[in-house]
Order: sequence, then structure tokens, then C-alpha cells
Amino acid sequence: MNAIIRSIGIYTPQRMIDNAYFEKIVDTTDEWIRTRTGIVQRFYADENEYTSDLCIQAVKNLSEKYHTDLKTIDFIIVATSTPDQAFPNTASRIQAAFEIPHAGCLDISGACAGFVYGIILAKGLIAANSHKKILVIGAETLSKITDFTDRTSCILFGDGAGAVIVEASEENYVFDSLSETDGSLGKELYISSQGALINGIEVIADNKLHQNGRAVFKWAVTTLVKKIRELADKNHFKLDDIDWFIPHSANIRILEAICEGLDIPMERCLESIRNYGNTSAASIPLAWYSGIQSGKVKMNDKLLLIGFGGGLTFAGICLQNKIETVNK
Ligand code: ACO
Repeated sequence: MNAIIRSIGIYTPQRMIDNAYFEKIVDTTDEWIRTRTGIVQRFYADENEYTSDLCIQAVKNLSEKYHTDLKTIDFIIVATSTPDQAFPNTASRIQAAFEIPHAGCLDISGACAGFVYGIILAKGLIAANSHKKILVIGAETLSKITDFTDRTSCILFGDGAGAVIVEASEENYVFDSLSETDGSLGKELYISSQGALINGIEVIADNKLHQNGRAVFKWAVTTLVKKIRELADKNHFKLDDIDWFIPHSANIRILEAICEGLDIPMERCLESIRNYGNTSAASIPLAWYSGIQSGKVKMNDKLLLIGFGGGLTFAGICLQNKIETVNK
């Protein structure tokens, strides 16, 4: 069975946080944040607003824009590192909110690669002929797990959600994927709520995000330049055949270094880092959506999506865009 993606929706919370906010709580400046990360602003959920609330708004946006019948969805995947609870999973809340009668529900933990992992799994379920219409959401409320005393990380993160529907189709528009992990680097980026020593590795068990920014930066750039070429080759595409690259928006300098390594102009890269910060599993759909709704990404354009993060892991996939621009 072949797959197609024809609809997308997003949501970000109302509360905008500019860089000046951090000048008041840690030793930093707007200038440092803009030049070292590219971030201008991000949005934070309210205290009583959770990842599932953001998902529900993103799915409403998708169904209003693309007039999608949500009742026939037969599986829901939510990629998130910030679920409302360990269980019930976040996907179940979406099932309940839209009263979807026959849907399997699963949250997946793939950090910033989670959304692409979700698409890969959805395509697999369709290829196995067991499901036909799968809602895939990448969503985070990272503000709830941010350590606001750590200037190297607190400035980076934002909250948001993005949703697509992967459907069975006669022709195939969701192509080959690539995913790998180096678990030995797991200690460089983690959130722990238990233990001080896990598998012999010391962790801070405060339920906050901890990272070695430099190590993640270096791994991301060196790995992705190689792996994007490998993914394009696997799909029999030259880099020039790909209209838009949508890597996870972790830091504008990571995206610039990837483009430089691939010798492609930064103008062919879609990002969500400037306006939303690093939104982990939500960053790729946020960038894709703005590309579509601004009219940059056209029908039938070829896309390469690649997420990377905690694991350390990455997941990439090539697609042909079948989502229309809807200007309302
Ligand atoms: N304001 C001012 N100075 C700062 C700040 C800040 N907010 N943060 C760090 N600095 C200082 C450092 O202390 C250091 O000072 P020193 O030279 O006196 O020691 C200097 O700036 C340079 O520090 P670096 O760590 O080398 O800064 P870098 O340019 O690498 O930027 C950053 C740090 C932004 C964290 C970068 O490494 C990065 O983006 N890494 C990747 C992060 C990432 O992709 N994480 C994925 C996680 S997302 C997820 O999985 C949810």
C-alpha cells in the first residue's frame, strides 16, 4: 500500500516570550541569543495548558483548513518528550476530544526526531495493510521541563504542536526513510525523573532537560551532512532534485553548517527556530506549515525531512508535497 499526506495543522500557545525575558533571569543578552541561536521569540503554554491541549488545537486547525473527516482516523501517534502523564498516553486524549470511534493510540519517545519517526511508523502500518488513515502529531510543552537557572539551555526552547494525516493512496508520495542511533551519546542530552545512576551513568533526576550543547552541535552537523546525502541516494535523488530541506530547527547555526556541508543555499532550508525557538518534535511540522501557507512550498515539490536529538538519534524521510496552500 502507498501513502500520501494531504493535510497539516499547527498550534502555538498565546504567551509570547521574547529574548529580553531571559535578560532578567540569567546572565545573557538578546544579541547573544540571536547571533548564537537565531531565536527571536518563542511561545510558552500557560500553567494549566498541557501538550494534549496544543495537539487538540493543531488538529482543529488541520480539520478546519482541509475539511478532513476525523472520525475515520484509525490510528493516532503523538511524538513527544513532554506527555501530560506517563499514561494514559497523550494520543488517547486526542481520541477522546474528537470522539474518534476506532483508533489505536500511541505516544512515541524520539525527542526531536519523534515527528519523522511517527511518519515512518505510519507509513509502515499502511504498508502492512492494517491501517488506512493515521494522525501523526509532534508536540511539546518544553517550558515545563526547562531549567530556568541554566543560561546555556533555557533560552533555546519553546512550546508548540504540528499534525499531519498519513493516508493510504493509489500512488506513493511518502518515500524511503533512514534512521539510526548512537546510544553511547545518550548522556549528552536527557531528562530524568528517577535514579542518580542509570546504567552506570550519572544523571540529574530533576525532570529538567540537561544537555552538553557543544557535543550535540558537533554530532548533529557531522552526522547529518553524511546522512542527508545517504537518504537522498537511497531515494535516487540528487541533492538538486530536492526543493526543500526541513531539518529539525535546533539552532540556526546548525542549519547553516548543514547547508554549507551539503553545498546548498540556506534559502532551500525551511526553519521554525526564529519565531518559535527549539520546539523539538513540533519543529519540523511548524517549518513545513509556514512553507506551505506562505506559498513557498508548491504542490509536487520534493521534500527531505530530518529530525535529530536525544538518543542521540536521527530519522529522515523524503516526500512529494501533496498539501495545498489554504489562505484563510
Ligand atoms: N548567554 C550568554 N553567554 C552564554 C549563554 C547565554 N545564554 N550560553 C552560553 N554562553 C557562554 C558560555 O558560557 C561560553 O562562555 P565561555 O567561553 O566564557 O566559557 C560561551 O557562551 C560559548 O559557549 P558554547 O557552549 O560554546 O556556545 P555555543 O556557541 O555552542 O552555543 C548552544 C550554545 C546554543 C547550546 C549550542 O551549543 C547549541 O545550540 N547546541 C545544540 C543544542 C541542541 O541541538 N540540542 C538539541 C536539544 S533539543 C531536544 O532534544 C529537546
